[in-house]
Amino acid sequence: MRMVDIIEKKRDGMELSTEEIQFFINGYTNGDIPDYQASALMMAIYFQGMNERERTDLTMAMVDSGDKVDLSKIDGIKVDKHSTGGVGDTTTLVLGPLVASVGVPVAKMSGRGLGHTGGTIDKLESISGFHVEISNDEFIRLVNENKMAVVGQSGNLTPADKKLYALRDVTATVPSIPLIASSIMSKKIAAGADCIVLDVKTGSGAFMKTLEEARELAQAMVRIGNRIGRNTIAIISDMNQPLGLAIGNALEVKEAIDTLKGEGPKDLTELCLSLGSQMVYLAKKADSIEEARNMLIESIRSGRALEKFKTFITSQGGDASVVDHPEKLPQAKYRFDLTAEEDGWIAAMDAEKIGVAAMLLGAGRATKESFIDLSVGIVLRKKIGDKVTKGESILTIHSNREKIDDVKQLLKESIIQSKEKIEPVKLIHDIIN
Ligand code: URA
Ligand code: CA
Repeated sequence: MRMVDIIEKKRDGMELSTEEIQFFINGYTNGDIPDYQASALMMAIYFQGMNERERTDLTMAMVDSGDKVDLSKIDGIKVDKHSTGGVGDTTTLVLGPLVASVGVPVAKMSGRGLGHTGGTIDKLESISGFHVEISNDEFIRLVNENKMAVVGQSGNLTPADKKLYALRDVTATVPSIPLIASSIMSKKIAAGADCIVLDVKTGSGAFMKTLEEARELAQAMVRIGNRIGRNTIAIISDMNQPLGLAIGNALEVKEAIDTLKGEGPKDLTELCLSLGSQMVYLAKKADSIEEARNMLIESIRSGRALEKFKTFITSQGGDASVVDHPEKLPQAKYRFDLTAEEDGWIAAMDAEKIGVAAMLLGAGRATKESFIDLSVGIVLRKKIGDKVTKGESILTIHSNREKIDDVKQLLKESIIQSKEKIEPVKLIHDIIN
């Protein structure tokens, strides 16, 4: 087989065989196929696309390029959740204890990563003593015992995807549905879950700006998962504004605690119940989505979800008293309010810009080496559709520096007010299965 023939075939709009896709992925991972040929193929796929069979083969070839996590020693059906990424997305922190509290095993492997705020592990580390440095055996024991544990990513998962994603990033070939879908699904499948619930975000703060694109990506991923025998469903949720109210690490832990108490923001609560009921249903702990949803509502009401969060924190060395005393979480030195300059309604929020503002305060990493300040961030007081009066606070900035004109300017630009009444935005746009 020759790589040049594979490129030519795809360039001319033809279908690649399973063997050709495997030949490319194996050769590229081990260095036999150079970057210039791989980029030519990526560009050909960008223009010509891939059918469902090719996408599935590409996904599996990337899964087979590295280690695979074995969760078989964990009892029950393992369901993983994945979000395509948004701003202030606190769902993982809530969903873990919430679904674990009704018996769904949550074996979470998480990274730190780059972004507006830290990853799930960074957020949890704002709880004093909490750590994820546990052995694989300990991880499995904890999930079997408590139904929930979080461990840092180890092993060499999907090296082909790592290499290809970096290449696509610099060759203008990231925004291709077949390439994105197989990239995301390969990572989820290598991580070992039996079933996958996807939260595909759409809107100004999301990777997929329009509902049509989000739907197409969701369908592509659901079909790959189901073809491979991993039951997959996707929820398309709105990211035209940050999710919930808090954007920041300790601030989001506090928001997660509030939500597990039944006192969280409406949109975050609703998304957690929607994603969570799909997870409970796929894990076969309920016979219908409605039953699953009622189980989760009851778990919040009875305090069982909150109790699960405490058990989980304690089991990984953390001080669970933060749940009853959130003031023990890291606190920033200064608080500043951004106030409305006139009466009206909040018409739009640029989630992306608000995320950048949080990062400028120190809540996220710009590079792998950046230091994260767990205490800082932004708490929204208003969301799209809310009425505001002149002088009223729209949001509070939690900062450790006194001069934050850059952050204030960015936040001012990111919020648009209207003199006319604005309807709140719809949160869940579609469910694809
Ligand atoms: N996220 C991924 O993991 N892969 C892509 O290709 C795009 C977004
Ligand atoms: Ca949030």
